[in-house]
Amino acid sequence: MSDKSRAIGVFDSGLGGLTAIKQLKRILPSEHFIYFGDTGRVPYGTRSFETVIQYADDDMRFLMSFDIKAAVVACGTVSAVALPSLEKKFSLPIIGAISPACHAASKISKNKKIAVFATPATISKNAYNAHLNSIDPEICIFPVACPMFVPLIECGYISKDSHATRIIAAEYLSKLCGTGADTLILGCTHYPIISELISSVSKEVLGYEINIIDSGLEAAYATKTLLEEKDLLNTETACGKVDFYVSDETQNFKNTASIFLGEQAENVTKVSIG
Ligand code: DGL
Repeated sequence: MSDKSRAIGVFDSGLGGLTAIKQLKRILPSEHFIYFGDTGRVPYGTRSFETVIQYADDDMRFLMSFDIKAAVVACGTVSAVALPSLEKKFSLPIIGAISPACHAASKISKNKKIAVFATPATISKNAYNAHLNSIDPEICIFPVACPMFVPLIECGYISKDSHATRIIAAEYLSKLCGTGADTLILGCTHYPIISELISSVSKEVLGYEINIIDSGLEAAYATKTLLEEKDLLNTETACGKVDFYVSDETQNFKNTASIFLGEQAENVTKVSIG
C-alpha cells in the first residue's frame, strides 16, 4: 500500500472523537479512518495524569497495528496531558486537539476574553491557558472544569431539549456571568456533540450569544493542513470509509454515534485493549 493510501488513526476515550470524525469525513472524503473509542475506560478526564498517559499509549499502540500514516488525538484530555509523550514515542505525524482550537478562538474573539470548558484533567494541566497566552499574552482566559458533561453524553443525553443536560450546562455557564467572555472553546471533544444545547442555554444564562469553538472541527482542519504539508493526502480512493473500534459493548456506541453522525455507524468492532 502506498504511503498516501494508508489509513488515518483517530482516537478518544469514547464518543468525543466523533466530532472530529464527522468533520474529517466531510473535508477529507477520500480518506480511510480508523476510529478507536475507549468506551470501556471512559472517562479519562477525571483520572490522574499517569493513568491518562498509560491509556493514551495503549490507544496509540492499537492504532499503530493498522500501519496508519497519521494520528489524530481527538481527545482534549490526552492532548493536554500526553501529547508530548506520544510525540516522543511514536514517529508519525500526530495532530492534537488543543492548538487548533486556540488559534481559531484567538482569531474570532473581539475582546480577547476567552472561556474554556474542558475536563478536570485538562483544566488542571493549564494546557489551554498556556497555548492561548503563547498566541497572545493579552488574552484573558476563564477556564471551567465540566466533569458532568462526558457521562451525560456517553449515556445519550444529547438532544437540545434534554432537561438534565440543560441544567448542568446552565450551572457551568453561570460561572462565566460577569466575565464578558465573547468566545467559548469546547475544549473536550465530547462537548461539541451538545453544542446546540450549550449555545441555546448560553443565551438564557449570559444574555448574549457566545462564539463557540468546536475542538473536533478545528482538529479536522488542522489534519487536512498537515497532510497537505507532508504530501500525504490520499489521491487514489474515490470514496473513503470509517472503521470503528470500541473497548466495550458496541450497541450504546452505535446508538449515540448514529444520532450524532446522522447516519448508521457501520463496522463497529469490540476489541480488548491495555
Ligand atoms: N473527549 C475527551 C476530551 O476531549 C475525553 C473526555 C473524558 O474521557 O473525560 O477531553
